Amino acid sequence: MVKQQGPKLVKGGMFIVFEGIDGTGKSTQLHLLAESLHRLGYAVVSTREPTDGPYGRKIRELFVDRGAVSHDEELELFIADRQQHVQEVILPALADGCIVLCDRYYLSTVAYQGANGLDPDFIMGRNKDFPAPDLAIILEMDPAQGIHRIRNQRNEHPNSFEEESNLRKVAAIFAAMQHAYILRINGSDTIDNVHGKVLEAVKKGLAAKTIGAKENLKVNLVNLLTS
Ligand code: TYD
Repeated sequence: MVKQQGPKLVKGGMFIVFEGIDGTGKSTQLHLLAESLHRLGYAVVSTREPTDGPYGRKIRELFVDRGAVSHDEELELFIADRQQHVQEVILPALADGCIVLCDRYYLSTVAYQGANGLDPDFIMGRNKDFPAPDLAIILEMDPAQGIHRIRNQRNEHPNSFEEESNLRKVAAIFAAMQHAYILRINGSDTIDNVHGKVLEAVKKGLAAKTIGAKENLKVNLVNLLTS
């Protein structure tokens, strides 16, 4: 977790998550957004899941030895990691008026553990007590291109979540999701163009939050963004 202080606070905070298959540039976009928002004067908390806490570390060990736990146990580890993350980092930062940017959140669990064979609706149900994001940006890309990027640009070998056949299943579940807070952006566009779209969406969302707070309305950000 990284906190950048700023004079501008948002009432109740704003919770933005980046989602999508591996290799789509989520982390790059999160970093660029954090820098832009910080320059605009906002207090920004950047964080990620799996976290660097005890459950997150356990999950990362599983990347190497996935057979070590069952699919159900794997799901429960992601939930336990999220529980701690929400209580200790996300909710306090939102209460302080920060914009919280999170690299992956529960839609990743629905998509990845769903690709393992668990029922996506069941997974969503296991996440129902966690705060919904104000905005979930799904960066979309063909899985083959995502894997190519992981291998060539990061010089890494894909982990066991990242095999192409698995990522195709993950991408299909992301593609089928329908939540009012989802905004889809083509991740194969240039870094600058993607950032431009992300920033435009977030600025509109911030304006809408201010109006919403004043008039005590629950504003659907994505409707505003696409209007
Ligand atoms: P990733 O953001 O790619 O981590 P890193 O910074 O190490 O590249 O996430 C690690 C993997 O965890 C990714 O392949 C997707 C998987 N994952 C799940 O399977 N379920 C989840 O709920 C989350 C948050 C991640």
